[in-house]
Amino acid sequence: MILSGHASLAGVMGWPVAHSLSPRLHGYWLERHNIDGAYLPLPVRPEAFADAVRALAALGFRGANLTIPHKQAALALCDSLDPAAERIGAVNTLVFKDGNIHGRNSDAFGFIENLRQGAPSWRAEAAPAVVLGAGGAARAVIVSLLDAGAREVRLCNRTPARAEALARDMSGPVAWVPWEARAAALSGAGLLVNTTSLGMTGQEALDLDLDDLPTSALVADIVYSPLETDLLRRARARGHAVVDGLGMLLHQARPGFEAWFGVMPEVTPDLRAFVLKRE
Ligand code: ATR
Repeated sequence: MILSGHASLAGVMGWPVAHSLSPRLHGYWLERHNIDGAYLPLPVRPEAFADAVRALAALGFRGANLTIPHKQAALALCDSLDPAAERIGAVNTLVFKDGNIHGRNSDAFGFIENLRQGAPSWRAEAAPAVVLGAGGAARAVIVSLLDAGAREVRLCNRTPARAEALARDMSGPVAWVPWEARAAALSGAGLLVNTTSLGMTGQEALDLDLDDLPTSALVADIVYSPLETDLLRRARARGHAVVDGLGMLLHQARPGFEAWFGVMPEVTPDLRAFVLKRE
């Protein structure tokens, strides 16, 4: 893409950032929609974060995505936060407009849009959801499930204090369950989501007996390396509909792209194949 003097600029700020799929993803959409714009990897150390954000705004960037370790630091820097960023307690999308820094969080949107695209017949209100993990990803997943109308969320985490704190923060029908009781918590569930790092390449496997999970339940993993985790493979073998973690990553990028470049892009099989084909 050859840029004009009017090109719209955005990027992803993280430390490190070299592993990020976002430049490839946004680059694909920019080309597909023939947009005069660029999306850059922006390696920024934690101590330089505030200066870097102000510099981007001063340079006329439209905004940026944020990844580890900047998502919480951004809360204090933004002039306004959208309700999702406030409830999740993290910002993954910055939009610079009228001299202000707006902080948003599109992870909850990404999670639920991916479920809707991958399993159109799933209904949040139909049956309880079981969420494994109590980190930032679990927060976004639970916010999205409550907004979608979930009537019961069972939250299981290795460290009970984190599960308890998260259940309390969410101010909705979220009950925490001890980690040891995770297999029994699957009884009657309509959705199981793994938000822990278990099953990721290089990490331990997720040790979870699926026997009590109704076969009608949808199983989602937010781990996307490998794309088919052991959990998803076992669930598929039992006849469950499954949704992998790459979809959430692709969908969470859509609102930022729209805010910076003016087009709401789609997640298509071609995009998935393109992003997976890296190096
Ligand atoms: P993120 O913000 O990406 O969700 P995180 O805050 O590091 O990342 O959360 C990782 C999650 O994986 C946590 O729920 C963590 O459990 P703890 O709260 O007990 O740390 C979970 N996790 C990581 N390794 C685990 C393990 N070996 N067994 C069980 N849970 C594990």
